[in-house]
Amino acid sequence: MKNSRKKDVFGNAKKWILEAGNIIRQKIDDPLEIDTKSNPNDLVTTMDKDTERFFVEKIKSTYPDHLLLSEEGFGDEIPSLEGTIWIIDPIDGTMNFVQQKRNFAISIGIYHDGIGEIGLIYNVMEDVLYYAKRGEGAFKNGKALMPLEKGLVLEESVIGLNHLWLCENRLVDEKIMQDLVKTARGSRTYGSAALEFAFVAEGVLEGYLTMSLSPWDVAAGMILVDEVGGVTTTIDGEPINLLTRNSVFVGHPDIHKRIIKDFISKGRK
Ligand code: IPD
Ligand code: CA
Ligand code: CA
Repeated sequence: MKNSRKKDVFGNAKKWILEAGNIIRQKIDDPLEIDTKSNPNDLVTTMDKDTERFFVEKIKSTYPDHLLLSEEGFGDEIPSLEGTIWIIDPIDGTMNFVQQKRNFAISIGIYHDGIGEIGLIYNVMEDVLYYAKRGEGAFKNGKALMPLEKGLVLEESVIGLNHLWLCENRLVDEKIMQDLVKTARGSRTYGSAALEFAFVAEGVLEGYLTMSLSPWDVAAGMILVDEVGGVTTTIDGEPINLLTRNSVFVGHPDIHKRIIKDFISKGRK
């Protein structure tokens, strides 16, 4: 993407994500219509849908040649990563949004011909905006995030885990996952993949490991993490395919290498 174009797209994406967040904050106590999708705990609200429609309308009227890959179905059918594609999760952490009214984010990753150009993750209730532009670093509320420190060890690391590995999608033997939890200094579950990626980029989580995520959960976060020297792959160390669901393992490069070598590769089912 040309630099002048990228600047303009970034400016609009930033303006729209803050605007959408502001609307959500204003309506946070309004009654919600809550539906379920694939299972009784897979929630969707009118706010998820309205927020997605807000972005579709802005993007389509400003950039008619751009495409949208988004969770709630108001975007385009995307058969390939050709062209400029906005990959959007209007609310990442809907369960937190419904149950806690906090700890959720809007996530926007903008890709051009499959290359991540711009990533934005907005922690709506805390009014914290993480963003990155390819080759220009990652930022938190305008302040540059530092490159991830070298030489970290797992024994002093905190790892984000989605505990669904305990009951389903057991891609890795539970015993090995238990060893991983016992070896790391600590483990955390925040309930918003986008925020967990942002925390890895910020260096407050050394890794985040989960068995199945969609493109909109990871698109923005991958760009942020890449800008500070982190790595995102499947749990087998393979590249993420943004056209489908993947297992996901993002982290500090030393921790990523160690967990794959000493844990996942030994317990892969
Ligand atoms: C979910 C969150 C959650 C992750 C789920 C995602 P949603 O996204 O990111 O942390 O564990 O797999 O589906 O449904 O709230 O947008
Ligand atoms: Ca999500
Ligand atoms: Ca969502």
